[in-house]
Amino acid sequence: MTDDHDLALAMLRWQVEMGADEAVGDTPVNRLAAPPPPPPKSAEPRLATPQAARAPQALALEPVQESVSTARRIAQGCNSLDELREALLRFDLCPLRATATNLVFADGNPDSGLMFIGEAPGADEDRQGLPFVGASGKLLDRMLAAIGRDRTSAYITNTIFWRPPGNRTPTPLESELCVPFLERHIELVRPKMLVLLGKQAATVVLETADGITRLRGKWKSYTRSGLDLPVMPTYHPAYLLRNAPAKREAWRDFLEVKSRLDSTNGV
Ligand code: URA
Repeated sequence: MTDDHDLALAMLRWQVEMGADEAVGDTPVNRLAAPPPPPPKSAEPRLATPQAARAPQALALEPVQESVSTARRIAQGCNSLDELREALLRFDLCPLRATATNLVFADGNPDSGLMFIGEAPGADEDRQGLPFVGASGKLLDRMLAAIGRDRTSAYITNTIFWRPPGNRTPTPLESELCVPFLERHIELVRPKMLVLLGKQAATVVLETADGITRLRGKWKSYTRSGLDLPVMPTYHPAYLLRNAPAKREAWRDFLEVKSRLDSTNGV
């Protein structure tokens, strides 16, 4: 065995001990290689890069707005959930698509009347192409069971349709590009009620900067696209997995949802 081999093995072991459990790219990156030459001045990027999204002053505003308008035009042109899913499969303006394995569109019964919106797919969801199938999803299933529902009597999606690398919070640009599809998604499903799981869903759907602790447990309204739906924001299951005492409040929120559904004769 060479020194290089031992060193590489030691570095790999160290990364595993630090919690790395997957590769982030299929091709290795040679960080010692010379940087690529800068693009010619005339080559305008179609989209702001994720780096630019983190530095608003550097945003190429026009291309971003154009991309959001394109997303809106495409989403509005879809007249069924199948069309919307197909359109997202083809949509290549969201940078997350390049690093994701699968599109994660939705799961459950769109005719159930009850629509849950989470944040973004994680590693398990990315692998299976379905929302909430990992640890958070198992808890969500138990919470649904507690109000007498399962995935045949609830519909589940996310604000973001591709996994952000390393489960980081989606950037404003990524959210903006997915919003037109989310709005059309809600419009096509026409649920009787929305339940928002966590801060990202509450921020995007309710267009508010308030935190989830302040928002949860109080009925809000969704009044876009000619709809007027009751909305219950509550904690994200991933948060509940880390903060067991908050389950009591989430349980109250779910009971609120059940009682409103029961009083409107179910859905
Ligand atoms: N967390 C989410 O917000 N959505 C998923 O689909 C899985 C985990």
